[in-house]
Amino acid sequence: MSKLVRILSALVLISLLATSLAACGATGSGKVKVGLSFSDFATERWKNEEVLMRKLLEEKGYEVISQEANHDVKLQNDQIDNMVSQGVKALIVVAEDGDAIVTSVDKAAAAGVKVLAYDRLIKTDKIAAYLSFDNVEVGRQQAMGVMKAIDIENWDVAANGPVRLVQLAGSPTDNNATLFTKGQTEILQPYVDAGKIEIVAQQGVDNWDAANALKLMENILTAANNDVDAVVASNDGTALGALQAMKAQQLAGVVPISGQDATADGCNSIVKGELTVSIMKDIRNLSPLAVDLIDKLLKGEAIPEMKKFTLAELTVDPSKQGEVPCVFLDVAQVNQDNVYDLVVKSGFQAYDDVYRDIPEGERPAKP
Ligand code: GAL
Repeated sequence: MSKLVRILSALVLISLLATSLAACGATGSGKVKVGLSFSDFATERWKNEEVLMRKLLEEKGYEVISQEANHDVKLQNDQIDNMVSQGVKALIVVAEDGDAIVTSVDKAAAAGVKVLAYDRLIKTDKIAAYLSFDNVEVGRQQAMGVMKAIDIENWDVAANGPVRLVQLAGSPTDNNATLFTKGQTEILQPYVDAGKIEIVAQQGVDNWDAANALKLMENILTAANNDVDAVVASNDGTALGALQAMKAQQLAGVVPISGQDATADGCNSIVKGELTVSIMKDIRNLSPLAVDLIDKLLKGEAIPEMKKFTLAELTVDPSKQGEVPCVFLDVAQVNQDNVYDLVVKSGFQAYDDVYRDIPEGERPAKP
């Protein structure tokens, strides 16, 4: 090859590279940046999802920047602004507060950044996608699990009075909490109307914090003289907090209680007979789908699985305007009968975590 030909082909190669980098918005490192923004890492599931999404994004050749806001709404907005100024082309966001975060998300979208609301809705139609589970169904399944455990159909109101039920909702700033409560109410209300259930307390748990749930439950039990028959709690963390208060009154394992997330600790409590039911939301499907959607959004590819929903419908607030493209995945109830197959055998949680403190002889065989 002559020197001239070599120089010319090198030039062609450089210009081809430059065009393709410019086309996909690559940075100096040659990689497109994607930001991950988490409300907190106190909830067991989020760290796992961060690890998984980072790995999948990196495998696709993206550079990942990740931030965690420790439940601080202002900090999460600042972190998002900051990631935008660092040049991210897309953001996957677990919002601490679905309203407050709109400030930074609208700015990001205006700068051309594709924002995916991950698991929790961000209440603006500027997001590129909202990916979650069927959250109303989560609430229904929580209430149904508890109703089954107290055998509501055969509950004798004449002999026992109505079922005295405590409803612990999630964080008031999380739109999912509204949806879980909606689903729970769909199941519970007909029994309330029929005089079969009396709701003795109904409270939200700030930050989904287990310590808050423990305190709330202590107060509720004191006020009710421990006369509580059932608890519908909205996730495993808060249920385990409530269970600590119930344990102190010898009510753990006696009064049924729901959770959510099929966390390692929650499943351990299920096998010990304390938590009655959890809801498994398989993040092994959610995280890869989020990465896949981001990849397609960045490449301008069509995403046929997305369906538009109105914000009014998604927030249960008729005053909200606009529509967002969504994908919702299915959920499943976890209880003592299926925890081994659904959670352990499938590898969702580790055998040793789920059967922690359970004597060797009482454990099922290792899968
Ligand atoms: C919700 C989420 C739940 C639960 C909770 C606690 O938004 O859907 O799975 O983990 O947050 O942070």
